[in-house]
Amino acid sequence: MNRFYITTPIYYVNDKPHLGTAYCTLTADILNRYHRLFGEECYFLTGTDEHGQKVQQAAEKRGLTPQQHCDEMVVNFQNAWTDLNVDYSQFIRTTSAFHKKVVQDCLQKLYDKGEIYEDTYEGWYSVSEEIFYTEKELVNGKSPTGREVTKIAEKNYFFRMSKYQQKLIDYIEANPRFILPEFRKNEVLGFLRKPLNDLCISRPKARLSWGIEIPFAKDYVTYVWFDALLNYATGVGLGQDGREAEWSKWWRETRPVHLLGKDILTTHSVYWPTMLMALDIPLPKHIFAHGWILNRDNAKMSKSEGSVVSPKDAADLIGLDNLRYVLTRDVHLGNDAPFALDLVESRVNSELANNLGNLLSRSSNLVEKFFAGKKPAFQVDDSTSAEIRTQCLALPGVVKKEIEDFRPSFALEQIIGVLTLANKYMEEKAPWKLAKENLEAAGHVLAVTLEVLRVAGVLLIPVMPGKCDELLKRIGNPPRDWASLSKWPLVPADATLVKGEPLFPRLDFASKT
Ligand code: MSP
Repeated sequence: MNRFYITTPIYYVNDKPHLGTAYCTLTADILNRYHRLFGEECYFLTGTDEHGQKVQQAAEKRGLTPQQHCDEMVVNFQNAWTDLNVDYSQFIRTTSAFHKKVVQDCLQKLYDKGEIYEDTYEGWYSVSEEIFYTEKELVNGKSPTGREVTKIAEKNYFFRMSKYQQKLIDYIEANPRFILPEFRKNEVLGFLRKPLNDLCISRPKARLSWGIEIPFAKDYVTYVWFDALLNYATGVGLGQDGREAEWSKWWRETRPVHLLGKDILTTHSVYWPTMLMALDIPLPKHIFAHGWILNRDNAKMSKSEGSVVSPKDAADLIGLDNLRYVLTRDVHLGNDAPFALDLVESRVNSELANNLGNLLSRSSNLVEKFFAGKKPAFQVDDSTSAEIRTQCLALPGVVKKEIEDFRPSFALEQIIGVLTLANKYMEEKAPWKLAKENLEAAGHVLAVTLEVLRVAGVLLIPVMPGKCDELLKRIGNPPRDWASLSKWPLVPADATLVKGEPLFPRLDFASKT
């Protein structure tokens, strides 16, 4: 059986989730649910990044210990993912004992191998990014992403990252789908053309106490990124007694797909692979960097910019499955995209209300009216229904290919294309008129549209689990597994349809404001 292991970044607990951070988790959830629909065995890891200066400062501001602060804040993330119907396998916290122990073991192993050494560090430090910069890397006195930096000089421990520079370049070149999308791979290769520094992996406790203690230097804690990146491995059993089988299964045999935002691509595609090389651990399967959700003014949605939308508020206003749909449909994975209510409204109305919803309500109303609510029988295919059948049987393969290529927006476009064809068929055949002359011919049209709804309903489950469950229940509750999609027709004639309120009502924000 094929397997799929996907991760999200672990989120800093200094903040509540907003629509930008929720985007990554929702996308991972949707990809994971697709792979599950394909019949694969899936694992989805998410969690929180709880150490480091930002968290320590946020706790101090609130007059709490860092652990108290984390314990309170983590609930915001867990609740947000529940509210958004995110079905993860494990929520990892970097303050968990098992994670801390393995991070210490890795540090010790690298130190014993001579991969970590002591030196004096002088340079610039960005608290908000938890990253050191050299003088040369600064842009107008700030970090390359425009964050404040402060000058520091101190004794520290360094990981010999530069030693792996050429090995990493060779790996990226030999594995062209390691870093995705392709233009991001080129960016990373561009970055690696310049000399790579070694990585400072310690922080003196005098400056920062909230972290994992370095086992061979008790006055230091480890750099938060060294700790955080390891979650992807500790989460599936690295170095833990009793979890060896899990480790082989999910890491060695499957290897993870890391989904993350473009702003943290360097840590994932340079720090992390070189750490893994030094630890003799195979590299992830893919590192995929997505773009940003922008606010109305096309700026990154972020707490510091004061432009955040709460995912719960957005879901309450728009409808949860509508939100999941538009974030998948309107963002080409990898690119930036704005989030604005007028865009949401037009997408939901044109594709969910007027297309999918319309096909469902028309089909069910006509079956109710002319066939006493029982699914009519197929007759001999006409040329359009033969074309629809062919497209529906091909659709699962098309969707699977798009999802495997990280193109979920295009997968949805293809599904909508077949629904559009079915709506046109309904319009052309006008079964409401046809029924009066030839009831069986009208029945055929409805049998076809109901089967299209079945195929679309199953293929949209990963994006809109709640709505699609209801849709499928209404049209005869057919099986929803991958194999069922190669059957046509599947729901038997005479199956009873269930009536209900419109499942995909139109949105109308303008009249409400
Ligand atoms: N803790 C680190 C990640 C460690 S992973 C080993 C971190 N956390 S974060 O909370 O600041 O950001 C988490 C993710 O949210 C990043 O992938 C970032 O790109 C993403 N986003 C934050 N704002 C975003 C948008 N407006 N749009 C899309 N994603 C955004 O970095």
